Amino acid sequence: MTSSYPTQVKIVEVGPRDGLQNEKQLIDLASKLQLIDDLALAGLKFIEAGSFVSPKWVPQMADSTQLFRELTRIPGITYSALTPNLQGYTNAKSVNVDEVAIFGAASETFSQKNINCSIAESIERFVPIVEQAKKDNMPVRGYVSCVLGCPYEGDIAPQKVTEVAQHLLAMGCYEVSLGDTIGVGTPIKTSKMLEAVQQVIPREKIAVHFHDTYGQALANILIALQQGISTIDSAVAGLGGCPYAKGASGNVATEDVVFMLNGMGIHTGIDIEKLVNAGNNIMQALGRSSTSKVANALLS
Ligand code: HMG
Ligand code: MG
Repeated sequence: MTSSYPTQVKIVEVGPRDGLQNEKQLIDLASKLQLIDDLALAGLKFIEAGSFVSPKWVPQMADSTQLFRELTRIPGITYSALTPNLQGYTNAKSVNVDEVAIFGAASETFSQKNINCSIAESIERFVPIVEQAKKDNMPVRGYVSCVLGCPYEGDIAPQKVTEVAQHLLAMGCYEVSLGDTIGVGTPIKTSKMLEAVQQVIPREKIAVHFHDTYGQALANILIALQQGISTIDSAVAGLGGCPYAKGASGNVATEDVVFMLNGMGIHTGIDIEKLVNAGNNIMQALGRSSTSKVANALLS
């Protein structure tokens, strides 16, 4: 594996979706729109803004249609959303989402708990979404959850991750994001999993998505960078978690990732002060403080 770092990194900001989906209190639409505007102002070019899932399963995302209608779109920014089935895709398309993401898992039990079907059924369910997206010229991203451990099954074999990722790419996803949903990955384990996936999938098509439950995310991201992976998912202020992954806490904070990359001379195009401001505004709306160490240091 290569040990040279990428010169630039694409950050996929998942705060408005992954970050907010797990919040218990319903957040008003104005605060969500403000967050997206603030992130755009900070230079984020890929913003996962919502989720067209069942409102019974994730009430917090029930206003995604309204959100996309009211969004101020800045040219050059991709505003994306999750779509678990054709119904979600059709709804997303009707409000001109720029890109959609389908989400599967490397764990059977998590797949059942999260999207109410087996891994094989989920792949079947994704096919018509991708077929329609191709006709619409809509880019599709794929997620694989539980790549370094499952809240229900424990360890997950890298072979399983590779298998699901291959399915997603073969059906037409342009990239797969490998999710450490409950943040249990540690660097050597991460390294082995990423090496196994790269046996069959080129690194240009791999993104990493670390939750920071156990404080391992930045260390794991460093491993991914050392392997030449240059797309990183993160959420401003360290927001996030999946309601169907017991114990899952926030994503790695975008501020912390950008600070690390800045220190390594890796270009992101993000203004860290404006990013901290984005985090500060949403945390004020939520009535608690950020879990980003960098944001807290810069604000103190
Ligand atoms: P189901 O109950 O099996 O679906 O849920 P169904 O097809 O039987 O439909 C049941 C009802 O839901 C029907 O309504 C449908 O119309 C409605 P009813 O007739 O009862 O009134 N429905 C929908 N409504 C709106 N939009 C839709 C939709 N689909 C059905 N798209 C389903 C299956 C997949 C829908 C459900 O399990 C679901 O919505 N799951 C989403 C769970 C979720 O969003 N989890 C968090 C995101 S994943 C994540 O966070 C991990 C990630 O960050 C990576 C990582 O960290 O690893 C991506
Ligand atoms: Mg996630």
